[in-house]
Amino acid sequence: MVDLSHELKRAKALVERGLDQFLTAETAGDEGRCPNRLAQAMRYSLMAGGKRLRPILAMWSAEACGVLGEMAMPSAVALEMIHTYSLIHDDLPAMDNDDLRRGMPTCHKAFDEATAILAGDGLLTLAFEVVACHQKPVDVIGECVRILADAAGPRGMVGGQMADLAAEGRTDANLAELEAIHRRKTGALLCAALKLGATIAQATDDQKGALERYGWSVGLAFQVVDDLLDATGDEAKMGKRVGKDCGLGKWTYPGLIGVESSKVYARTLADSAIAALNIFDERADRLRVLAHQIVERDH
Ligand code: IPE
Ligand code: IPE
Ligand code: MG
Ligand code: MG
Ligand code: MG
Repeated sequence: MVDLSHELKRAKALVERGLDQFLTAETAGDEGRCPNRLAQAMRYSLMAGGKRLRPILAMWSAEACGVLGEMAMPSAVALEMIHTYSLIHDDLPAMDNDDLRRGMPTCHKAFDEATAILAGDGLLTLAFEVVACHQKPVDVIGECVRILADAAGPRGMVGGQMADLAAEGRTDANLAELEAIHRRKTGALLCAALKLGATIAQATDDQKGALERYGWSVGLAFQVVDDLLDATGDEAKMGKRVGKDCGLGKWTYPGLIGVESSKVYARTLADSAIAALNIFDERADRLRVLAHQIVERDH
């Protein structure tokens, strides 16, 4: 298999730079513009590392459609801001109650709960401002905002998080409902990354449809593997606590169908994702390899 490590490193460095630039431009400066403590908490969580998978997917989706990945940078930055906000809130005591994230104390541990809630709110709001003010070409801005809002909001991530919490401890766990939860809480935002790249590249409907199918398959696979890593992964590599889902009564793939079947399912999803890309030339190769890496990852 092609080694993606160099390409991923390069893309990640680009994303880190974009995140820093937009965050600095929008929040640095005087207390009267953005309170220092809020700016610090947002920066603490946003710049704490992480795989930057969603921004990279957005850039590589744009490239598969024939434009430069950097064209998607404002939307890529927005995706990572929304993702980071979702992690800050997911870790709160009222939700998954975690104390470790991206190898550091969670935002509410490093600051306090109120600051963590507001840092999440700040990142979510800023994400839309970045797209509205900086995404090009200007005539795709409305569609980009719509894609992000649909994926992040009540029909997407927020709805999935509600359903995830509501399912906790219920004894009637079933695969159909679990898949719906995972698609919404994680799949929707990952899929949005692919849709954004295609939209910014002003791709054809066929290309958009193919990238969307890739996005849904990879998005679900990603959360199946996240469940697997909670059951079998290494805390130091993950930078977050493992072995927690079971104690919280979470519905997970390994919990429902076992570790081995979950691995097989994740690989099947990666294969479907890759098959969806058959209308693309070698410019989609990185997405093809990434689908495999997403299911074989250890963090
Ligand atoms: C963790 O996401 C939460 C899920 C949606 C499973 P990532 O595994 O992408 O976390 P980071 O961004 O690399 O920290
Ligand atoms: C989180 O799922 C999905 C989000 C929308 C944040 P998890 O609760 O399984 O994510 P981790 O394991 O805490 O990263
Ligand atoms: Mg959770
Ligand atoms: Mg969690
Ligand atoms: Mg998890």
